[in-house]
Amino acid sequence: MLSQSPNRITSPPWWQLMNWIADPLGFQDRYSQKYGDIFTMRLSGLGSLVVIANPQAIQEIFSQDSKFDAGRGNALAEPLFGQNSLMLMDGDRHRRERKLLMPPFHGERLETYAKQICLIAEQVASQWQVGQTFVARTAMQKISLEVILQVVFGLSEGERYRQLKPLLTDWINMTDSPLRSSMLFMRFLQQDWGAWTPWGRMKQLQRQVHGLLQAEIEERRTKGNKEGADVLSLMMAARDEHGQAMTDEELRDELITILFAGHETTATTIAWAFYQIHQRLDVREKLLQELDSLGANSPPMKHAHLPYLTAVCQETLRMYPVIPTIFPRITKSPVKIAGYLFDAETTLLPSMYLVHYREDLYPKAQQFEPERFLEHQYSPSEYFPFGGGSRRCLGYALAQLEMKLVLTTILSKYQLALAEDKPVKLQRRGFTLAPSGGVRMMMTGKR
Ligand code: HEM
Repeated sequence: MLSQSPNRITSPPWWQLMNWIADPLGFQDRYSQKYGDIFTMRLSGLGSLVVIANPQAIQEIFSQDSKFDAGRGNALAEPLFGQNSLMLMDGDRHRRERKLLMPPFHGERLETYAKQICLIAEQVASQWQVGQTFVARTAMQKISLEVILQVVFGLSEGERYRQLKPLLTDWINMTDSPLRSSMLFMRFLQQDWGAWTPWGRMKQLQRQVHGLLQAEIEERRTKGNKEGADVLSLMMAARDEHGQAMTDEELRDELITILFAGHETTATTIAWAFYQIHQRLDVREKLLQELDSLGANSPPMKHAHLPYLTAVCQETLRMYPVIPTIFPRITKSPVKIAGYLFDAETTLLPSMYLVHYREDLYPKAQQFEPERFLEHQYSPSEYFPFGGGSRRCLGYALAQLEMKLVLTTILSKYQLALAEDKPVKLQRRGFTLAPSGGVRMMMTGKR
């Protein structure tokens, strides 16, 4: 039995941190080739982290959730999301908050958002002109921001909506490159010296967004929160087992969490799907055949169950992780995993990227092959784009629904093509990874 920190990378921690920020996937490739599917990195200021790409070990982690904390491992997100974010919570507080937040994102509730999502996608795509190029990621970000504003915040018109939209876009775009993302990882860069410094501007935008959200919450409280269909209404109406509602600060921080966790991730994944569908014209052809087989005016939820479309989305999520690893799991006491005995306070980082590229699970892993998901069923520790256990992504069902509905709405009405034939690479964007250049596309006609 080995104890703690297997296969330690020996380069200086500051060098490892720079590499992790600049190229987290290349970093993982290099060291997994050298050390195998469990190795330890040491990031300056963040300590030792054990990267895990072994499905058996990951299965053991997911099935022993109560032995780990994940929230305190996300402390880097606190300056953005706030202290009352689900992502930063552990134990009973996390369980309570998840119970309050879950219902709007699952079951029949989701179906009520389907029509709205299709309308939003149609509105954005209808602005494209034949022969004109556009950046797919930016277009998808417009769609996913609008989905969050309408479906989650319940805002689709009025002064507050008009103010919030550009503020949120500016705020999120503050970390749109590896260099600008550095301030999230290096606390010494987090100095509020006024709006002309990057962190100062970030904080200024945050204060403005908080002000508008607080005003919305107060207005709903004083006017009486009409039981609307949006997520905020449901969150305000939810009560825990002691009859307690969420506080204003909790509501505000959870809205921001959902915005950051749900909007860039979904936009980026849909942009990658467009990229692959238009690189692989055989995939596009098969997808269109499947869509056309449903006929015009079929209800949106029918699209959500199409098998080939589902496989295309699954393969996109396999190939393009939106975050480099899932959340850190910190051992609360010594834990045995895959033959290693990890001390208390060891941080384990299951890597969906390394697992999703294992040749023994995904032959020709570098190729986009949706068929693999039709032919094979993967276990939750072999395929986990949304993480697992008690921390599994809160919005996984909404994200997949949005992906499918945006793709079908646009592909069934418009002919698109890639505007450039050079390969598109992954690049850091804040805490997430996105296509560098955003995938430039062109509308070539209507269907
Ligand atoms: C394609 C889109 C998305 C991907 C790939 C994705 C991926 C993930 C991953 C990997 C985690 C960490 C899970 C773990 O460590 O086990 C996570 C957590 C989370 N996601 Fe997503 N996500 C997406 C969309 C969304 C959406 C649309 C929402 C909100 C509506 C959302 C809200 C959250 C929240 C709140 C958490 C924290 C859960 C917790 O701490 O209990 N995500 N997501």
